Formats: sequence, structure tokens, C-alpha cells
Amino acid sequence: MADQPRIFPAEFTWGVATSAYQIEGAADVDGKGPSVWDLFSAEGKVRNGDTGHVACDHYHRYREDCDLMRELGIPNYRLSISWPRVLPTGNGDINELGLDYYDALIDALLERQIQPWVTLFHWDFPQDLQDKGGWLNPQSPRWFAEYVRIVVERLSDRVQHWFTINEPQVFLRYGLVDAINAPGLRLSLEERLLASHNVLLAHGLAVAEIRSVARTTPQVGWAPVGIAMMPASQSAADVEAAELAMSGTPDHLWSNTWFNDPVFLGSYPEAGLREFGSAVPSTTPQEMETISAPLDFLGLNIYTGTYVRSTGDGSYEELPVPPGAARTAFDWPVCEESLYWGARYHWERYKKPIYITENGMANIDWVALDGEVHDPQRIDYLARYLGELHRAIGDGVDVRGYFLWSLLDNFEWSDGYGKRFGLVHVDFETQHRIAKDSARWYREVIQTNGGSL
Ligand code: NOJ
Repeated sequence: MADQPRIFPAEFTWGVATSAYQIEGAADVDGKGPSVWDLFSAEGKVRNGDTGHVACDHYHRYREDCDLMRELGIPNYRLSISWPRVLPTGNGDINELGLDYYDALIDALLERQIQPWVTLFHWDFPQDLQDKGGWLNPQSPRWFAEYVRIVVERLSDRVQHWFTINEPQVFLRYGLVDAINAPGLRLSLEERLLASHNVLLAHGLAVAEIRSVARTTPQVGWAPVGIAMMPASQSAADVEAAELAMSGTPDHLWSNTWFNDPVFLGSYPEAGLREFGSAVPSTTPQEMETISAPLDFLGLNIYTGTYVRSTGDGSYEELPVPPGAARTAFDWPVCEESLYWGARYHWERYKKPIYITENGMANIDWVALDGEVHDPQRIDYLARYLGELHRAIGDGVDVRGYFLWSLLDNFEWSDGYGKRFGLVHVDFETQHRIAKDSARWYREVIQTNGGSL
């Protein structure tokens, strides 16, 4: 409990987040085409043989889920659109039933005074386009822009807030390099950098499409992952060392500046150009201009981070996590300062308003004998992280909102249903939902604008 109530700024945006493939199910219903995740999971490549075929059956239960959100006092909802539900083969013919579904979902939210925040791509890439080379195809940025135009034309009379792409670093790395996620490829460094360049171009073209066709003035951002580097102490040397570490290794570059520098600063980071050398695709000034189309905000998905200490000679070292330290069910260290430093470093480097587009905790939750789901660890995790977010705002970091991951327990990609992130427990056999203790706790945080923390 803090000494002073932690009141957030009056206009602060509180919300929850989900993504289409992780909750919708209805994988081949009403004309939806296959995504890379449908095939990957059907091939048994997900833990336990799980698939997103039914998931939370949200496609059929969205009204019930919207009711739940209203009961839980959630004013903002970050959802994603399934590209192959709208365009079954990725480009070409439109599936009107798919668009009707999103129309109805947006209406259901607005009827309940819940504002939609729409992510246009959250990893469920159309399989037919994958068969044409996916993000390696030079046409891929145009494919995405075309799809975005169709969605924005249809929904922008009611949707104002857009995110182009979710965590490009993660789907490119796990899906196209490490073969952990769909489509399960192992590309070379040259190919990986080419695919990521195409993803950046797709983002830039999408921003232009949104701005040109939106029917109400749109607010546009994107939602990369932010792997936070945290200084081991408050000393200026450690603070500097942690900032340096953001671009300090190929992995950290990949998770941070390689994607955000082109988008916000208009060029790839020097450290990355040195590191990746001749593998970097050649780029034109026009391409960099497309990629750096001005955004209104930066979304950041932050869950954990790494402590860093200066070595005193202009370099740094990463500190290991102490034995027995708090970890989530994903084994990710619980380090709430990641939200403070993640937000602060991105604000200092890019000077864009920030929304935390994801933060939350995988926990081992079950229905207790009393019929409730008690998740004190999640409450403690969230209280710690929100406290640090409040501290960042107090120190001048322009953070405008926070979307908790996730509303529902859902399909956690290659981990299937084994990891529960929800405020609401889902029984995947019966689809029965139970709001966890943390859901009621979060409702109070929202109602008091942080005062109850
Ligand atoms: C990031 C991804 O955007 C989301 O889809 C995933 O479920 C969460 N992090 C938790 O791993």
C-alpha cells in the first residue's frame, strides 16, 4: 500500500487486450480462410496438440464477453481483426460475413460504452499469402495496405484508435527464424532482415491508408514489444549503461531499436547497421519516408526486463536473475521496474505518447472449492507494475494508458492453453467464464483511477 494514493492523470485510458486468433475460434466458420496458425496448430506443432479452432469461442459469445466487460467496469478494449476472416485468401475477394462480424462486435462494445482500440495484425497471417512467400514477397506491404483499407473503410465511422502491427519482433523471430511459432520457418539473417523491412513498409503504407480513408480523425500507433533494460542502481553510469544495452546485442537491437528507430527516427540504428552489416537490405530514402509516417503514439507490450550494470569502461554487463526470485508461470522474472524503465527509455528516445498495450501475468489459476478463482499473485504483480507506471508518469514520462493482457484465459500460441493470462477464467471444455479475484480488484483500480492501489 502506497503512502499517498496513486491517482493517475484524469484522462488516463484503462483497458484490457486480446487478439483474434487467441480467443475467437470459429476457424473455418462463415467463410473465414486459413491463417498460418490454423495450419501450424493442425500439424500438431503446439504444446499438447492444442489449436485455436475453438479457443474461447468468442466469435459466438462476443455479446456475453462484452457484457462481462461492462460488469467489470472496463472502458477500453484492445482487440485485433483476423485478416483471413476479412479476406479469406489474404487479398482479392472480401468475406462480407467476416466484416459483418467485426461490425457487430464494434456495435456491441459501443452499446456498452466500451471504446474499441483495433490492432490490424496480431500474427494470424493468411496461409494463401504465406504460400506466395509471405513477408519475403515484395508485394507483401501492398497486400497488408489493401486489407487495412478495407477494414478502415468499414469500421472507422466508429473506431478512432488503430494499431497497425503487434510485436513484429516476436512473430518474425519466433515464426520465421526459430520455428517455434507459425509458420515455423528458419530463415537466414538476410531473409529475416528483408522480411522485417517488408513488415516495416507494410506498417508505413498502412498508416497512410488509415489517414487517407478514415471517416473520423484517426489516432494511429503500433504495438511493438519492449524488452526493458533496467539499471541496477540509480547511478548515472548504470542508467546510461541500461540505455546502451537496448541496442547492445543483436537480440536487444532486434527487440528495440531495429524496429522503433526506422518508425520514429526514419533510419535503422547505427549499432544495428554495424552489427548486421552486409545482411541489411538496401533501402531507398522514399522507403524510409514511408516507414516513418508520423504516428500519434507508441504502444508497448512490456512484461519483464533485465538488470544492467556499468562496467566502468563505457560498457555494461547484464545481471543474472537471483536464485529463487519471483517468476510467473511462464518463468518470466517479476520485475516491475521494467514498466518504469521501458516506458522512460522509449519516451526519452522517441518523444511519443505511450500506451502500455500489454502487461499481465501467466499464473497457475484454478477454480477453488468455493467456486471462485483466487489469484493473489496476479493482483500483487499488477499492483507492483502499476505502481511503477505511476512513478514513470510522475517523473514526466507521457504514458496515456494501460491495457491489461488479457480479458480471458486464451490460446497462448505455442504454449496452447497451458498458460492462463486472463482476468476471467475460461473452462475450455464448457466455455464457462468465471471472473477471478483480480478482475474485481482491477475494476476498483479503474473506478478509483489508481487510488485503490
Ligand atoms: C505478447 C503477445 O502480443 C500476446 O499475443 C501474448 O499472448 C502475450 N504477449 C503473452 O505472451
